[in-house]
Amino acid sequence: MELLRFSAFWCGTILFGSIVLEQTEAMPGLVRWSRLCKFCDVRPTSCSGTGTCTSDCDRSAICVDRDEVCVSIWRKTDDNITMDTVCHNPALRLYGLILDDYNSSRCEMRERKGMGSIFFICSCSEDECNDGVVFTHIPCLSSPASQVGSVILVSLGPLLLLAVLVISFFYWYRVYSQRNSGGKRKKSPQRDFSDGQAIIMSEEGSESSSTLANNLNHNTELLPIELDGQVGKGRFAEVYKAKLKQGTSAGEHAFETVAVKIFPDEEYASWKNEKDIFSDADLRHENVLHFLTAEERKVERQYWLITAFHPRGNLQEYLTNHIITWEDLWVLGESLAQGVAHLHSDHTPCGQYKVPIVHRDIKSSNILVKNDLTCCLCDFGLGLRLDNSLSVDELANSGQVGTARYMAPEVLESRINLENIESFKQTDVYSMALVLWEITSRCDAIGEVKEYEPPFGKVRDHPCVESMKDSVLRDRGRPEVPTGWTNHPGLQVVCSTIDECWDHDPEARLTAQCVAERFNDMEDLDKLSGRSDSQEKIPEDVSVVDEK
Ligand code: ADE
Repeated sequence: MELLRFSAFWCGTILFGSIVLEQTEAMPGLVRWSRLCKFCDVRPTSCSGTGTCTSDCDRSAICVDRDEVCVSIWRKTDDNITMDTVCHNPALRLYGLILDDYNSSRCEMRERKGMGSIFFICSCSEDECNDGVVFTHIPCLSSPASQVGSVILVSLGPLLLLAVLVISFFYWYRVYSQRNSGGKRKKSPQRDFSDGQAIIMSEEGSESSSTLANNLNHNTELLPIELDGQVGKGRFAEVYKAKLKQGTSAGEHAFETVAVKIFPDEEYASWKNEKDIFSDADLRHENVLHFLTAEERKVERQYWLITAFHPRGNLQEYLTNHIITWEDLWVLGESLAQGVAHLHSDHTPCGQYKVPIVHRDIKSSNILVKNDLTCCLCDFGLGLRLDNSLSVDELANSGQVGTARYMAPEVLESRINLENIESFKQTDVYSMALVLWEITSRCDAIGEVKEYEPPFGKVRDHPCVESMKDSVLRDRGRPEVPTGWTNHPGLQVVCSTIDECWDHDPEARLTAQCVAERFNDMEDLDKLSGRSDSQEKIPEDVSVVDEK
């Protein structure tokens, strides 16, 4: 088992190899690894917000992205004081703020506005520099400067006192006159970092918001969110594009674009399940939708999940409206497999234990396309955390769930092996194979590209379990893979990978991790063959291989 963990860890490192290593600009030839940061997410702290504190976080993590820096966030609400330690890419906003102090080697806390609470953030760029944080904004009464001042006061006597009084008078006079001329300056002894410095306006259609995952918005105040249009509708909830307001900057309203998934009262269970899955900080991954927070909107009798917004929408919509290149296929396919592999994994990229999760409703409409054309998984309403405490009964009660069109044969038959948690992962891999087929069917490297059709498209609009049983179990049918699709060397590997993922025998299927590695290897294969995209496509005959 240890050996397995070890190799899996290195596998992860290799997987992320291209983003973990970097040539440093200052010293070409030197290689910079990703940073090591304290990474405990939100936890209560004894730090009172003055002087120096340590994070009390016993978990250090190698940041996934080489650009990420170490960040600490100190927050005080009516109920508690928390410290949040994480890695974060300073190119992305955090709570709508730009991290502009990350070049420092130490983490100096500064007050920021928002979220209805007192809120301090610092960032820095040395390993574990977010462990010790310094609050410099409040005058420290016991500072050496004031001690020296006292000694001088006592020893030099009344003369010095007089001088100090005179200087104090002039100082007070200057401050007083400045206040009068400055008009509206704050009385607070803390530094005032204006919104203009800290917040930038969100561009319409910008990639996504980047605020950290939080379990539930415990603030009594709800987030200032203004809903725009509806962008999606699922079984349990509707999704809206929305503006998360961030106060004003230079007289204009600053905001961050977010997505809000709204569950009606009667879908509380689905909201709770998705919220609980999202709340696991270990779920965070570039190919998993970025969760911001959850809210109970009691007045409206609604439950909200607030996440990053991705303007390109879901993969089904994207494939319907776009023909993609071989390179696009490769990016979409690899990122999808990486997202599923991360979900299924029992360790984080840093090798720490994590609870494996199965999605159980993987389909192209539950996958979002990010601006860089990578995928991220969303809609965890049917997700299941495979922790060791789950009994066979609990697993059995979880029933036949998902979308009939994408259900693996053993799910259609309700014959999952409940003794083995791998069985649940194998059903996800089957569904992922159907999505990979959908992606391939819209790639110009296959030859003639037809209109988008879902897998088993001809069955009917929303096939029921019984008709899917006929196609998948009785006829052992799978979507067509015309022979012409395999004239491209990369596509050959993709098609055989798909074939191995939708095998009737769940145990014979590849793991998502293996699929991700295959895609990774395919990049080199494509370079070696001197092709960078789908230029060499061969118009093809369309023979059918839907019987296994
Ligand atoms: N549809 C569903 N969720 C979405 C999101 N987070 N961004 C954009 N479109 C979506």
